[in-house]
Amino acid sequence: MVLYFSATGNTEYIAKELANRLNDKCLNLLPRIKDNDCSEIYSDTPFIICTPVYVCEMPIFFVKFLKKLRLAGNNNAYFVFTSGGYAGISACQARRITRAKKMRYLGRAEFKMPRNYIASNAYSELDFEEIRKRINDAAAKLDKVYETVKNGEKLKDRHIYLFEKIIIVPFTPVWCRFKQPSKPFAASDKCVACGKCAELCPLGNIRIVDGKPVWKTRCAHCMACISNCPTEAIEYGNITQKKFKYTFNKFKARDKKLNSENRD
Ligand SMILES: Cc1cc2nc3c(=O)[nH]c(=O)nc-3n(C[C@H](O)[C@H](O)[C@H](O)COP(=O)(O)O)c2cc1C
Repeated sequence: MVLYFSATGNTEYIAKELANRLNDKCLNLLPRIKDNDCSEIYSDTPFIICTPVYVCEMPIFFVKFLKKLRLAGNNNAYFVFTSGGYAGISACQARRITRAKKMRYLGRAEFKMPRNYIASNAYSELDFEEIRKRINDAAAKLDKVYETVKNGEKLKDRHIYLFEKIIIVPFTPVWCRFKQPSKPFAASDKCVACGKCAELCPLGNIRIVDGKPVWKTRCAHCMACISNCPTEAIEYGNITQKKFKYTFNKFKARDKKLNSENRD
């Protein structure tokens, strides 16, 4: 069974494609994460746990949830990470979680996908050609991952060096605590109070007050609210204005429209 969390659709795409190829079930963990529902999930087939990478690790809230989640049936676990190109020490965390659950770790696959993080000017925006390339490369890699999982073999990926662990282990929690405030998030008059942002927030950090979203302090900066807003009413201070608020589905729809316009 494929289990996934995804804020802007990259991981959802990979998870669904894998489940499709394997003819296996696919479960979105978002409702369970929001409800802190760690009750048993049973699968006859190996578990394939898919997550984005945040600040060189698996998202902190996802790790906490996974540790408590009860998995039964098949004793094997694969992990799949989607990132903008650097998954850091996510695989070490995956191995540790699997060991604590007394399950067998069968390795991980890393997919370099379009970077969804827009709440900082430290990264240049990806151009659409690059986004398209990454999605196409991922489709090719999916076939290889599928073959490996289907044959019950181990997934192999790059070696993680000790210096990476020494830097990342103390760095990530501090960064997440102090460099990801939710205060700059705000909705403009374009907001139609649909509540989608609150619905998609994995931490339940958003409430709708007087017809507008209000952000509390627990924020993972996952970009689900800002990027999935149907009226593009949400901004992060003046950092996100004019930036393309990437979601996998939005990009695909844009590409499809462009293709059909070029054909006409
Ligand atoms: C808070 C945050 C931190 C991120 N940190 C990293 C990172 O350390 N390395 C990286 O390559 N990509 C990083 N990314 C990019 C995402 O991992 C990548 O775009 C991922 O595919 C998004 O998955 P999703 O669309 O399923 O939410 C980060 C994204 C966010 C929102």
